[in-house]
Amino acid sequence: MNKLFDCIINKNTTSIPIWFMRQAGRYLPEFREIRKKNQNFIELCLTPKLVKEITLQPIKRFKLDATIIFSDILIVPYGLGQTIDFKKGYGPVLQNFELENIMNTKKDDFIKKVLPVYDGLRKVKNETKNESLIGFVGAPWTLLVYMLNKQSPKKNFSFDIINSYKSIDKLLQKIEDIICLHIEKQVEAGANIIQIFDSWAGLLPKDQIQKYCYIPNSKIVDFVKSLKIPVICFPRGIGENYADFCSFVKPNCISIDSNVDPEWIKDKSNGIAIQGGIDPKALLTNKNNITNIVKKYLKIFSGYPYIFNLGHGVLPETDPMTIKYIVEMVKNK
Ligand code: CP3
Repeated sequence: MNKLFDCIINKNTTSIPIWFMRQAGRYLPEFREIRKKNQNFIELCLTPKLVKEITLQPIKRFKLDATIIFSDILIVPYGLGQTIDFKKGYGPVLQNFELENIMNTKKDDFIKKVLPVYDGLRKVKNETKNESLIGFVGAPWTLLVYMLNKQSPKKNFSFDIINSYKSIDKLLQKIEDIICLHIEKQVEAGANIIQIFDSWAGLLPKDQIQKYCYIPNSKIVDFVKSLKIPVICFPRGIGENYADFCSFVKPNCISIDSNVDPEWIKDKSNGIAIQGGIDPKALLTNKNNITNIVKKYLKIFSGYPYIFNLGHGVLPETDPMTIKYIVEMVKNK
């Protein structure tokens, strides 16, 4: 059964579905094993057999209610022709691009470049049947940040790189179009939930959040809704703007980070499903503390459509046994 659909759309609260952002990743020794033999991260994302294997690694270990395809948000700039490299211990490094080349990328050019992503999804779909299978994209703003900053803004970022880019509106529009195409193809391949990651929405000054976060997210949300697929938004780091985001963008579900007060958002979200919240760093502490924080979220969201998840991805230092413990706690509540 599609447990996420049941929670998000049917607002069924009899059980709390659970999955984790980055549930397939470096905290799993079996992921590190494959990664060691596949140094080129983008190539790994474009190898359907390994995409399937990695995607299913956490599903084999834990009783999770959703599968998220192993891929990356930077597949979109890659498909638009920007060269990307993942440097060990540093993160993604993107090369300069010519706007003209990006603008001239046709739908078919893009699809041809990223086709193995959809092939990988189809393979996963064969194994997961009608269960929740999450496809995802980066939101336009977050992709713009990577494309123009050419590395994580964690390292270095100034809003000037956006302000001084003269064709920003053209580029934004192109990214939005390709994101919709990428969603459509993932749904065609079997994704039955879409999550939009706006990981760097928190960098936006208040007077720019409408233009770069609310409007682009709402265009993508409307597109996903037109496909009759539930959509989860994750505008990480926008703080008190989470309330305005919900009323402007109207996603089917809102994923919260650890700085959002869970009681406050429950009150402000207008009844839409809520996902996540717990600080991934809490999972690095002792069992007693983990138990208390999990209980806290379960109590607050009892009787409310809530999907258990974290406020960001599982950290590489996390003990897989902690994930197992949390899944069992949520299942046996
Ligand atoms: O959640 C899942 O299990 C599905 C797979 C997934 C990955 N990336 C795999 C990955 C998803 C949903 C993403 C999304 C993603 N990618 C985001 C949005 C979510 C977030 O973290 O804010 C962003 C910003 C990226 C870009 C990205 N990819 C960065 C900055 C990095 C390097 C640093 C890091 O966080 O690991 C990646 C690499 C990446 N993507 C890894 C994985 C498993 C680690 C790869 C490795 O080095 O072994």
